[in-house]
Amino acid sequence: PLHQKEYLINGEIKHAEGATQKVFSPVCIEKDGTLTQVELGSFPLLTEKEAFEAMDAAANAYKNGTGEWPMMQVDQRIKAVEKFTWKMKEKKWEVVNMLMWETGKPLKDSEKEFDRTVEYINDTINALKILDRKSSRFEIEQGIIGKVRRGPLGVVLCMGPYNYPLNETFTTLIPALIMGNTIVFKPAKIGVLLHRPLLEAFRECFPKGVVNIVYGRGRATVGPLMSTGKIDVLAFIGTSKSANVLKSQHPKPNRLRSVLALEAKNPGIVLPHADLDNAVKECLLGSLSFNGQRCTALKIIFVHNKIKDQFIQKFVTELDKLKRGMPWEDGVSITPLPEPEKPGYLTDLIKDAESKGAKVVNPNGGAICNTYFNPAILFPVDSSMKIFHEEQFGPAVPVVAFDDVQEPIDYIVNSNYGQQVSLFGSDSQELAYLVDRLVNQVCRVNINSQCQRGPDVFPFNGRKDSAEGTLSVEDALRAFSIRTIVAAKE
Ligand code: G3H
Repeated sequence: PLHQKEYLINGEIKHAEGATQKVFSPVCIEKDGTLTQVELGSFPLLTEKEAFEAMDAAANAYKNGTGEWPMMQVDQRIKAVEKFTWKMKEKKWEVVNMLMWETGKPLKDSEKEFDRTVEYINDTINALKILDRKSSRFEIEQGIIGKVRRGPLGVVLCMGPYNYPLNETFTTLIPALIMGNTIVFKPAKIGVLLHRPLLEAFRECFPKGVVNIVYGRGRATVGPLMSTGKIDVLAFIGTSKSANVLKSQHPKPNRLRSVLALEAKNPGIVLPHADLDNAVKECLLGSLSFNGQRCTALKIIFVHNKIKDQFIQKFVTELDKLKRGMPWEDGVSITPLPEPEKPGYLTDLIKDAESKGAKVVNPNGGAICNTYFNPAILFPVDSSMKIFHEEQFGPAVPVVAFDDVQEPIDYIVNSNYGQQVSLFGSDSQELAYLVDRLVNQVCRVNINSQCQRGPDVFPFNGRKDSAEGTLSVEDALRAFSIRTIVAAKE
């Protein structure tokens, strides 16, 4: 087990003395005749005191924009981030393995998450070079020449989610950093130890206080930080509820900028003339990759009444072929769930739907075996059921039958969320009609393919409760900076 004591404040790796939190893998092994979750180690439960030290260090390094890091030339900051990336790559397998053990994410996908993160950093560096070049001289009006300079915003509090604890965290941390901001980073409640191998690299590659990493409970650490009013940017990926709590703790809302990627309830809409094989394949992957624990997962599927029976039959047949197993096994899709409370929550959603007329249509759907949760396909789901509205973030798939395409349109228009939608059909007029009605509701309309964030250079955003600001490379660079125009009279 990795009993981590270290944390990073003001360029110094410190050793925590106080309480610690044990970390268990969702993976179970047999011990004394019973199955128990593998103990992976522990991390320190830091307090308000250390959190304030981290914030003071970040504020001192920023020094109201006059610090070494915010004043540094862009190419020098790029060099520091490049050095960090090399060091990060040296630690690849330590990070990937811990990511797999902590979250239960299949090994191949954990590796993909790592590689994708490195690629994202490289893309960010390239985008910054272009952005920097774009800020060349231009004429504001006759006799006045302008030049745009992009500057940082201050101290950024970065917090990522447990489902993509590396990638999603770094898609805010890296652009914030490279634009000259200073950082306080607190990992999510699950996916903490995987950051340990990178602590030294952060210390070596950036000036004192530019990156500070704290561990512990949100209430004891980041809550008090927000209350000081000294956090300039909240970069948070997680639930809307947590984002709202954090934002409400800041005493000066007008001084806080937020970059948020939050919840979603992305629907799939399967139209009568859809290619069924493709629709089933995409809906299956879209709803159940990494056990449905993706903000971009399809979380409700609307199927036209004419094809509902064939769709469900095929869906159940294909679902049966998905391999369940340990995350390191080849070709595995369904793996143990890392959140202890998730199986109980999903069971409640299923019971609620069953009590109102839906059925679990696949054999053993919803069966629990330790940390495994066998995916459940629920049909017919309607608006009286909780799973129609709530973001389940797990392997339960509600299927709704519709006659008139206005029904799923109304669902999306009235939803609290607005991230993406997937349309499955072959009638181009019908698809075009839907696209026209949905472009003002979501931020990405996928046709005949599942919802997804990637490629990461794409804008990643959402309407309503799904997001605030836009991520993904160039957009993220803009999100963590502000333009200043230098206007000179000739
Ligand atoms: O949880 C949200 C992730 O950004 C989803 O990314 O669509 O590539 O799995 P993905």
